[in-house]
Amino acid sequence: MSVATGAVTDALRELHTRYSGVGEGALADYIPPLTHADPGAFGLALISMDGHRYGVGEADVPFTVQSVSKPFVYALALSLLGLDEVCRWVNAEPSGEAFNAISLERGTGRPANAMVNAGAIVTTALVPDTPRAPRFGRILDCLSRFAGRRLDVDEEVYASEAATGDRNRALAYLIRSTGPLPVDPVAAVETYFRQCAVRVTALDLAAMAATLAHGGVNPLTGDRVVPEPVAAQVLAVMATCGMYDASGDWLLRVGLPAKSGVSGGLIAAGPARFGLAAYSPLLDAAGTSVRGRLAIGKLSERLGLHLMHNPALAGSTVTLVTTAAGLPAAPAGARERARRERVAVAAAQGALDFTAAERVLYALDEAGTGRTGAVVLDLVRVTDIDTVARAMLRGGLARLDADGRRTAVADPDGRLYAPGEETGAPRCFASREEAVAWCAETAVG
Ligand code: DON
Repeated sequence: MSVATGAVTDALRELHTRYSGVGEGALADYIPPLTHADPGAFGLALISMDGHRYGVGEADVPFTVQSVSKPFVYALALSLLGLDEVCRWVNAEPSGEAFNAISLERGTGRPANAMVNAGAIVTTALVPDTPRAPRFGRILDCLSRFAGRRLDVDEEVYASEAATGDRNRALAYLIRSTGPLPVDPVAAVETYFRQCAVRVTALDLAAMAATLAHGGVNPLTGDRVVPEPVAAQVLAVMATCGMYDASGDWLLRVGLPAKSGVSGGLIAAGPARFGLAAYSPLLDAAGTSVRGRLAIGKLSERLGLHLMHNPALAGSTVTLVTTAAGLPAAPAGARERARRERVAVAAAQGALDFTAAERVLYALDEAGTGRTGAVVLDLVRVTDIDTVARAMLRGGLARLDADGRRTAVADPDGRLYAPGEETGAPRCFASREEAVAWCAETAVG
């Protein structure tokens, strides 16, 4: 076992050992075959943004996806119809109620959100149904692409829920009576029951969550399943509504977008970090896997994964703010020293986004004496610049130029100005020393 595999697997295994003895909770019994599940089953799985797979315990045991299907079908509807159209039919407000409550907006009858049953039934019905692409076919394809393998339906669970699911049928009729259900209630609920009966494992669910965390691209297959904005929208609704009437407490304590299901599946997504899944069929009163909730909560606490916990790392972006005279390579001659004194230098490193670019621009302002003279921006150790940071840095350099200051950039990989984009740009050099030398040449001593 490799070092990474060992460390991550050990963390999962420790949680598995810690919670496998917890016997609280009950199997869901309102869909009779769910009572056949092994109450002792417990699996944990994690998939990284590089597609590394980690699983312990019953991570390969199949079970029906149930409500964990809801965010993924919501993603499909958002991809096909767009956010505004979907919101016309289904709101995005936490209901504060149980998954099967009549959470409908007063007046319009619009369901509170796509995570409660009422909203999920409408969301399923929004997926287009055409002879060439039947509604359920589209849903199964989409769930399969999220999982990275072909999934199938547990026909026994489907038939059982279809035979006993009067509450969901009643909900569908109720919604239809006030308007926001675009198809026949029976047809809508049939497709919804089939979607809930799709068979998955904890490793499948971790891949599905990882695809949302990875901006809609499955990290195992490289398949772009949904556009990046859709992945973000789904994670937002999971964060506020994914755990029903326990959503606020979950976001407070665990701090990750999540979704539970009555067969014992539970997913959590660390945006740009990982997809996590648990399977353990003993449920609490909110319909959440007890062991899954404990394990994912503990993992979040141990690894500092809470979304609101992002301590700013001092010194992680700007590595140098000085004048060229302060650089180790500065020669000793008095005249040359004076010239170099008038060249401000700021260096950055790593991946630059909005926050990092603000720091870099502040450093450019601070660097040098009296905010006059030339400015060198050293990007040699920068690994990436996103579009927002690029626009900010270019704008900052243009303002310095407009103030009459000579500007130069050390940008050997053309990250700030790609080759061919140099018109109107500052002079770009392969190294900091070349940029400094060019600025110092003309600096008035
Ligand atoms: O509609 C139902 O009742 C089930 N097919 C799914 C409910 C569910 O998973 C609720 N989540 N905890």
